[in-house]
Amino acid sequence: MSTLVSNIGELVSESDNLPARAQRYAFSFDHGVITWIGPEDRAPQCDDIIDAHGGAVLPGFVDSHAHLIFAGDRSADFAARMSGDSYSAGGIASTVTATRAASDAELRSNAQRLVGQMHSQGITTLEIKSGYGLTVSDEQRALRIAREFTSETTFLGAHVVPAEFKSDPDAYVDLVCGDMLTACAPFSRWIDVFCDRGAFTPEQSARVLLAGKAAGLKVRLHANQLESLGGIEVAAACGAISVDHLTFMSDMELAVMAENNIVATLLPGVEFSTRSPYPDARRFLEAGITVAIATDCNPGSSFITSMPFCIALAVREMHMSVDQAVRAATAGGAQALDRHDVGRIEPGMSADFLTLDRPSIDYLAYSPGTSPVQRVFRGGQLLRSSHE
Ligand code: NIG
Ligand code: FE
Repeated sequence: MSTLVSNIGELVSESDNLPARAQRYAFSFDHGVITWIGPEDRAPQCDDIIDAHGGAVLPGFVDSHAHLIFAGDRSADFAARMSGDSYSAGGIASTVTATRAASDAELRSNAQRLVGQMHSQGITTLEIKSGYGLTVSDEQRALRIAREFTSETTFLGAHVVPAEFKSDPDAYVDLVCGDMLTACAPFSRWIDVFCDRGAFTPEQSARVLLAGKAAGLKVRLHANQLESLGGIEVAAACGAISVDHLTFMSDMELAVMAENNIVATLLPGVEFSTRSPYPDARRFLEAGITVAIATDCNPGSSFITSMPFCIALAVREMHMSVDQAVRAATAGGAQALDRHDVGRIEPGMSADFLTLDRPSIDYLAYSPGTSPVQRVFRGGQLLRSSHE
């Protein structure tokens, strides 16, 4: 059955072949896939019509970085930071203890609640990492549960060194590259490491990424959140698709990312929630790097499920234009996940799109705290509606 989406205020398709904000445009889809896009007065006859009521329409958001399989509560850490404490990788340990002690049902229902919030705010594709289990069985369990929500799952056994390996971190790296990887690879599409102060060195990170790659996983990396240790060079050498965080970046590191066509995934929720300096996105864009924005939803550094809020932060604090930020949250996220079927409204793409209750995408950043996302469609099916 064919469906026409019409009466659109402005259509932001993220297609390179169309105006950035197309006026009086429409598109159609059939069996969940976009079939046509063009001026409304040339629209094909369709079986059904979705009336956007003059609201803006854009691709569903692609959130390429989230840690949703955990238990416990770290709201007090946030409050302490706002009273002057600083963020360190060490806080992850308390979430690990709570996650190991939780039942599958508890982990599943926590993730379900967060995924529901993400859908309501327009995220139609999302990635989920392990990393709060840090034993062979707890990491595998996290990925099994993550798989219930998305095919974009990431094995992050190398999140931090767990307490029981503190005296011999390299033995933990051996475990991650050995039995843990063997148990987790069947449930993962990606391998990731937290390469930063208090987590893993560049040498350890390279070992894990290369082992993951040899097991058939695609490579991504957490780096340069707390300081620059050399993770960018490791990412380039290991063929990473995306490096995430990048709060602290030298010009040389930007050049390495550009040369190697690595996506820069910026996580403004982290700078917000850890009161850190925001990276200037203009430096990345001027270097010719593709930028993605993701929520990094996790209990420690960014307990945020709202992509519109992240867009507002990227615009206000990272100096992106609204158009650049929306592109980063859609087509940029898709590139960060090496996905070619989502993130744009174009023939052949999945019919993942949002209608806003406002005529332009500017409202995503202009009116933070009130989401203009009205209806969320994935594969042509209504996933969420604010009228529910
Ligand atoms: O992406 N930076 C490393 N990992 C997470 C934070 C994890 C935590 O604090 O629980 C992140 O920010
Ligand atoms: Fe993260």
